Amino acid sequence: MEVVVVKDAREAGRLAASAVTALLARTPDAVLGLATGSSPLPLYDELARRSTEEGLDLSRATAFALDEYVGLRRDHPASYRSVIRREFSERVTIDPARVHTPDGLAGDLVASCAAYEDAIRDAGGIDLQILGLGADGHIGFNEPGSSLASRTRIKTLTEQTRRDNARFFSSLSEVPHHVVTQGVGTIMDARHVVLLAGGAAKAQAVHGLVEGPVTAMCVGSVLQFHPHTTVIVDEAAASALL
Ligand code: F6R
Repeated sequence: MEVVVVKDAREAGRLAASAVTALLARTPDAVLGLATGSSPLPLYDELARRSTEEGLDLSRATAFALDEYVGLRRDHPASYRSVIRREFSERVTIDPARVHTPDGLAGDLVASCAAYEDAIRDAGGIDLQILGLGADGHIGFNEPGSSLASRTRIKTLTEQTRRDNARFFSSLSEVPHHVVTQGVGTIMDARHVVLLAGGAAKAQAVHGLVEGPVTAMCVGSVLQFHPHTTVIVDEAAASALL
């Protein structure tokens, strides 16, 4: 695991964007894994800028979002389908038909999760997975106690995560209780993982991720077993590292 401490979110975004740019130069039809939340936004801003100003080409790329709320209408501004579209797909040259999000409205959620796993596998697997980190150490929405071998499935959000995400909704009561998320095993299959975390509220989780014992109580710590993970943090998020 490589840990890079940067000055601010913009620098983090630039560094992560350089990983994406280098991948696309080698593999124009690369498969990206996309996180939502606040942490990857500077990355998406930078990819948009490089697309407009430097001709970064994502026209042959494919993308899979990490997660989606269960029961939230697709056009709700906080649905991850909407977020990925607004922050990423509409600002770069990717073919929208090649941008996939788990279906939180499927009649048969279990079958739909299995189909999502199949779609990732059929696309050749994820080359570069972008991650954020929950204050409780979650990656995707694999909350504490998740199986470290899990695949895409339904999970219940903790109250802390619901409160953390209430800023994207008009009230806490509107935040769904359930999500569909790529599993820990799904994330571990990605060839390169780039995790972004900033701010003091993430410091303990970053400590657990990098230096803690590998435990399902800080799910991100499993990345210590991943062969190619890059953790990009600002100084506040790095402040509990030894
Ligand atoms: C989002 C996701 C979550 C977030 C995490 C951090 O798709 O899977 O794991 O990455 O909750 O969120 P932010 O970046 O908003 O602090």
